[in-house]
Amino acid sequence: MLINLIQAIAKLKAGEIVAIPTETVYGLAADACNESALRQIYAVKQRPADNPLIVHIGDVAQVLDWAAEFSPLAQTLAKAFWPGPFTLVLPALNSVSAIVRANEPTVALRVPSHALTLQLLKQSGLALAAPSANKYTQLSPTTAAHVVVGLGDEIAVLDGGACQVGIESTIVSVAGDNWQLLRHGMITEAQISAVAGKPAMLGAASVPKAPGQHILHYSPKTPLKLFDDLAGLINFQQNSRQTCAALIIDDNPPPSLSFNRIYLPKKNAEVAEHLYDALHRLDALNVAQLLVLKPPNTPEWLAILDRLNRAARDD
Ligand code: TXA
Ligand code: MG
Repeated sequence: MLINLIQAIAKLKAGEIVAIPTETVYGLAADACNESALRQIYAVKQRPADNPLIVHIGDVAQVLDWAAEFSPLAQTLAKAFWPGPFTLVLPALNSVSAIVRANEPTVALRVPSHALTLQLLKQSGLALAAPSANKYTQLSPTTAAHVVVGLGDEIAVLDGGACQVGIESTIVSVAGDNWQLLRHGMITEAQISAVAGKPAMLGAASVPKAPGQHILHYSPKTPLKLFDDLAGLINFQQNSRQTCAALIIDDNPPPSLSFNRIYLPKKNAEVAEHLYDALHRLDALNVAQLLVLKPPNTPEWLAILDRLNRAARDD
């Protein structure tokens, strides 16, 4: 069910959940101070209770409503990357609901850069807890239509068009003057190091923890196999008795193939923008096997490779 901005504000203030657009993926939002609304998020997503939520705020000044510490390093990163596809995990104030934090001592915060959602945040004055608007382990939505397919038409959706970044935010935890990368995203480790003026902290005592990053995640319903080269992919298809469809990330696609496929050029921002939509479309073909020609294993492709590796599974 599509709703407008005024309706979305009314529903969120009444403790209902609403799917909202962001520049990364659609989120399933609730007032981050309303525990019964927060519980509905977990129920609708069928998400385990140990997987914390990101709190979306309209302005950097709101960090102090949630975090017990906003160190100079965290402030520098926020200034550089907000609004944008970047999430900061900071020590939480005691007042932050344990449901948002999933009992962690920290809270994840993000100022998204989607114009309609910034307007929603500012006009409502709310902070919105929002995980991706899909059932647990399934593909993230990058259009309002994906949300409806995944969660059903009863879900209220604020339609903000197709997401421009297309994959989930980079997550960084900051404690004092140290930082760690918890999830790859389109803001790269190199960009963060450059702004921070130092590399991420390493070492056994500081293994980064991002609860809920399960191996099987971001998965289409159809089994998905990854290939390093096109010859291997074609060979698999030719020897397979199953129906196949492919996502081919390559600048020079072969002129003819005898099976359904989607091509994306070898440009990381473009692949990120269209990745989930391509996987949703291939999934809807109801073939027995999806085949993906992987992008190269270089730093600018890490976030996309992370999503593809999690989507692939061996049945
Ligand atoms: O781009 C995004 O980040 C999207 C949009 C909607 O903002 N949201 C998103 O949420 O990807 P979700 O729930 O699918 O992933 C959030 C992840 C959790 O799985 C967890 O790994 C991490 O954020 N996280 C949240 N709070 C945390 C905390 N306090 N400590 C460590 N990791 C946390
Ligand atoms: Mg998710």
